[in-house]
Amino acid sequence: MSEYYRYLNIQNTFFDKEVLVKKYILEDVNKNKQWRIEGKDLSIINDTWFKQNGCTIQVAELFYTAPQSKIKWHIDISGYSPLFDYVKINFVWGTDDSHYMQWGKIIDQNCDSKIGYNTAGSPHMIFDPSQIEIHESVIIDKPILVNVGVPHRAVNDSDLGRWCISLIPKKNNERIAWNQAIEIFHEYL
Ligand SMILES: [Fe+2]
Repeated sequence: MSEYYRYLNIQNTFFDKEVLVKKYILEDVNKNKQWRIEGKDLSIINDTWFKQNGCTIQVAELFYTAPQSKIKWHIDISGYSPLFDYVKINFVWGTDDSHYMQWGKIIDQNCDSKIGYNTAGSPHMIFDPSQIEIHESVIIDKPILVNVGVPHRAVNDSDLGRWCISLIPKKNNERIAWNQAIEIFHEYL
């Protein structure tokens, strides 16, 4: 069993693609872009399934990865300290089969990492590819639970843009750790 991802057996994709892509406009299809969706903008997301499972969605992110590009190896920083393995639920569309999300392990725990921000302002701990040993890759073609507290990246080898909506579930107002998520969502895994 992967310690990085689990597909979710649910029909719900949580949103209407057309509405989303109309609202979040891409100026340049060859440039990666990220948006943070919060507050009243979250009405674009159908959170019924999360509520049924005792969770809330207070923030979502929308990622566009341009054709033939990748995002850097990184760990998502939660805003809480210390860092811990926590989950997001992702759904990808727009591209063909040549795209994947990839996880790896840091080769030397004492290596230097940098703090960076994506275009939506979310902080990341960034690693050089030479610092990472690749462990697993998955093509996301249905809703998936992903661990973003360990090094990961998105790779788009396709000639089409890759869209990803990433929902950050919370329980009791806290982000959900990987092991806790396996318990909460077990009947869908
Ligand atoms: Fe990430």
